[in-house]
Order: sequence, then structure tokens, then C-alpha cells
Amino acid sequence: MYTLGISCYYHDSSAAVLKDGKVIAAVEEERFSRKKFDDDFPKQAINWCLKESGISPKNLDSVAFYDKPLLKFERLLDNYIAVAPRGLYSFLDVIPKWIHKRLWVKDEISKHLKDFNGEIIFPEHHMSHAAHAFFTSPFDEAAILTVDGVGEWTTASFGTAHDTTIKLTNDIRWPHSVGLFYSAFTYFLGFKVNEGEYKLMGLSAYGKPKYYDLIMENLVDVKNDGSIHLNMKYFSFTYDKVMTNQKFSDLFGILPRKEDSKAEQIHYDIAASAQLVLEDILLKMVNHVHKKTGMTNLCFGGGVALNGVANYRILKDGPFENIHIPPSPGDGGSAVGCAQYLYYCHDKNKRMIEDNVERIKNNIFVGPSHSNDEIKSFLDINKIDYKLLETNSLLQTTAKLIVEGNVVGWYQGKMEWGPRALGNRSIIADPRNAKMKDILNEKIKHRESFRPFAPCILEECASEYFDVDVSSPYMLLVAPVKKPEKIPAVTHVDGTARLQTVSKDINLLFYNLITEFYKITGVPVLINTSMNVRGEPIVDTPEQAYNMIVKTDMDYIVMGDYIIKK
Ligand SMILES: [Fe+2]
Repeated sequence: MYTLGISCYYHDSSAAVLKDGKVIAAVEEERFSRKKFDDDFPKQAINWCLKESGISPKNLDSVAFYDKPLLKFERLLDNYIAVAPRGLYSFLDVIPKWIHKRLWVKDEISKHLKDFNGEIIFPEHHMSHAAHAFFTSPFDEAAILTVDGVGEWTTASFGTAHDTTIKLTNDIRWPHSVGLFYSAFTYFLGFKVNEGEYKLMGLSAYGKPKYYDLIMENLVDVKNDGSIHLNMKYFSFTYDKVMTNQKFSDLFGILPRKEDSKAEQIHYDIAASAQLVLEDILLKMVNHVHKKTGMTNLCFGGGVALNGVANYRILKDGPFENIHIPPSPGDGGSAVGCAQYLYYCHDKNKRMIEDNVERIKNNIFVGPSHSNDEIKSFLDINKIDYKLLETNSLLQTTAKLIVEGNVVGWYQGKMEWGPRALGNRSIIADPRNAKMKDILNEKIKHRESFRPFAPCILEECASEYFDVDVSSPYMLLVAPVKKPEKIPAVTHVDGTARLQTVSKDINLLFYNLITEFYKITGVPVLINTSMNVRGEPIVDTPEQAYNMIVKTDMDYIVMGDYIIKK
């Protein structure tokens, strides 16, 4: 049985195909369209998923879209009426897009999937998040918490899941949103909403939460159960294109930071304060969810679950014994989530929980891949010099190059599902060199200097280097570093790192590469950052991968079994 899931029209459009409930293809549209965070109807992603699955639209049994457009439209209209006459410009910008396109998503799907005759369903937005969180987990039953900006009306929800039934029993509603609270600070501190939230998280490490009380006394009323009420006198996202208003600026005594202006101490302190408020709200939520559900397992989804610092606090200070966060907890991930909802909850097909290895592999490595033959043919046609090495020699050579201070592209196998490169579309470098962060920024990434790079580590060594006793296969946990002097390039200013644990059974080639580096240096860690030029999505084709050494100062790229020098 084939099920297609689609997420689009807001952020990170994507598509996924499930065969008998198992993800066999999933990818974000941006990887093909080359428009970062592309929100358009994911035609190319759908076409690729069908091709990868070896089927045409008529073989699809059913299709799910990740939310209910009509309900979302109702919320938009309701909101514009409530805030009128403010919001006119926003109304004139947004509503035509809905009337001409977004409301007719069912027609768009039917138009694109010629000869498809099955059912199309529209689960609620937070149900899609919940399904992705639960059905990628190893749990037969769990409490569910979803937190994001907003779905149709809901901004956070909780409930329980058991076997193939998910019940979301409680929610918080628009405009009172934990995600939008954090996005408001993202905007105020000079970053793009829906994109710069992780920059705010990175910035927060440089500050002290001096404005915590000011925020709690003026901006947000937080109840003991974690429910919140935003003081809308300070926020403008209900009627404007910007998130905060003059009153918000007056409260902090500064104007919103311009994107290209220098961040100063006050910005760091505001970031630290907003981060701490977010963490405290989430902790209250998980405590309440635990009390109400009595469960030992928690599945946490929605875009706020991308906040690795908060995730670590939930893990350390929260009441749940086990926590699962899916590889792509944001809206992009909901292409898989809505398809899982359709297959399990709607159609009531039997759920088989795969063992950890199979489950994690199938949660991550489900994107496009390009064979050695394709890579060779690209290199030959373009008369590019390369060396072909057998696997052991390739691993040893690459590890040696990294030890010698080179920055190396590592392009292998299937592209990862979700926002992170997890060892197949990665740029790797030596974490022992304190200057490597600056070198990486100078040569390739050109990122804000305050942003840290992430480490990947052999799974069995994780608790030796980091204060963790669980695996972090999706790089969604920020934990204290135990040996910062050994890996200065990946240790953030507050002594933490967003780590990825790499297991032999899940990605043997990448595991073996780290092992070769370990043999030479005694350090089982590499820097792992995504393979993309600034402002562009992660690379897909061999040509895009090769362009990394053309467009940037990356020293080498390893593509399949081929190694190419700049
Ligand atoms: Fe969402």
C-alpha cells in the first residue's frame, strides 16, 4: 500500500511516500528547486518520491496533506476582522494568495497526480506533528506534546498515543503561541522569522538572562500548567508583517536590531532571557503533561522541538524517563507525519515497531542518492581530475587530510531527511583546532561569528565527551562538553555543543571515517556541518556537490569513492 504525504504553502515544502507504513522516500522541495525554505507546491519532490518508489500516481492508494487549509483560512479571516482596520496591508498581501491558490490545494494535488483516484485527507496541523513524533519513535504508547508557531488555530497541544490511536486532548490557541513568542525575539534581534530561531539560540549563550523578569511581568503570563497568554499590546504579528511594535521596543529601550548591524551585549542578554523563558514554559508544559497522562515516554514535535538547548533541559530537568524527538519536527517533517497519520490512525493498519537501527535509518536516509557511476560520468564529462580509492584507503586518506587541517566535503549515499546533514551531505573538519571555526567561516560558510559548529561523535564515546546518557542521532540535543580543551572548535562559548552521535549500524561509512580520525588523533569527534553555500539549500546532485570546491575554498571533496582536490 502506497501513501503520499505533502506539506507546503508555509515553509519547507516537502513530500514523502510510505510503503506499508514505512518511509521509502522523503525530501524537501528546496533540494530540487534550489530556493532555500521553498514554500511552493512540491511538484519536484512529489515526482522524485514517486520515481524513487517505482510507481506512478495511479498506484498511490491515498494522499494526505499536512493541515486543514479551510480552517487555517477561517483563522486568518477571523483574525483580520478582530484587528481591523489594522492589518489592511497584511490582508491585501495574504488573502489573494489564499483565494487564488492555497484554498484549492485539493485541486492542485489532483491536477498534479493525474490518474490518481484514491482518497485525499487533511489531518489537523498538530496531528501531523504528533504523528511524525510518535510513529518515528520506538514507543508503543507515549504522551505527546507539540509546540510550534501556529497550525490552524492551535499553537501547542498535548495528549496520548497508543498503538495506532493518537488523542490530542488539550491545546493553546492563536495568538497565544510559544513559537511566535520566540519568533518575535528572533525578529527583534535581527534575524529572519522561521529561519533565524536557531541563531537566537546560539546568541543566547553569550548573554545573561537579565530581562527574564521584565518579560514575565510584561509580555507573557505563564500558568503552572505551561499554558501561556501573550500580552498582545506588545506584539504586532496579528496585523503587521513585523512581529513586535514600538511598545515592545520601548520596553527594552532599543529598536529592533538591523540584520547587518553588530550584535551587542544587550542583544545577547535579551536572547538569553527569551531562551530561558522558553525553556521554563516548556518545562512547565512537560511537567503538566506528565502529571495528566501518567506516561513514562514523551514524543515531542513541532518546530519548537528544533531548539536543542530546550530539548536538553526537558531531558535533564523534566519528569519523563524517555524522550523522542523526530528527525524533522518542523512543518517540513509533517509530509511524513501526515502520511503516517493516514496509514496508521485513519486507515488503522497494523503498526510494527522496527528495531532501533532500522527505525533510525529509515527515519533519516530516505532522500535522493547518486551512484558512483553517475559521479564518475559527471567528473569525466567535465574533465575533472580525481583519484579513485577503495574504501579503506579512501577513509584513511580522508582522515589524514582532516588531521592536516583541510576542510573536506563528504558526499555519500542517500540524502538526509530533515534540516541537518548527518554524515551524507556534510562538510567535515578537525575539532581539535581552535581556529577551525574561523577557517570554516572564512573558506566556506561565511556565517555569523557567534554561531557554533556542531560535532559528530562515535556513539559509544558520547558520554565521555558530553554530559549525555542517551543517543542523539538527529543532532537535536545541545549538551555540556566534558572535554572542551580537546574539541575547542565545536565547544560553544557556554561550554556546550549540539552533538550528533554516530552509530556503526546506522551509518557504517561515516562511523568508519570518524574511527580513522580517532586512530590518528585519539579524538573520536569530527566537525560536521551541512554541505551548502551560504544562502543555498544542501546540495543534491554531483554537480552541486562539486561546485562546493568551485564556489568556496573547500580543500577537498570526497564524492562516493572519488576524491577531488580544489
Ligand atoms: Fe507547525
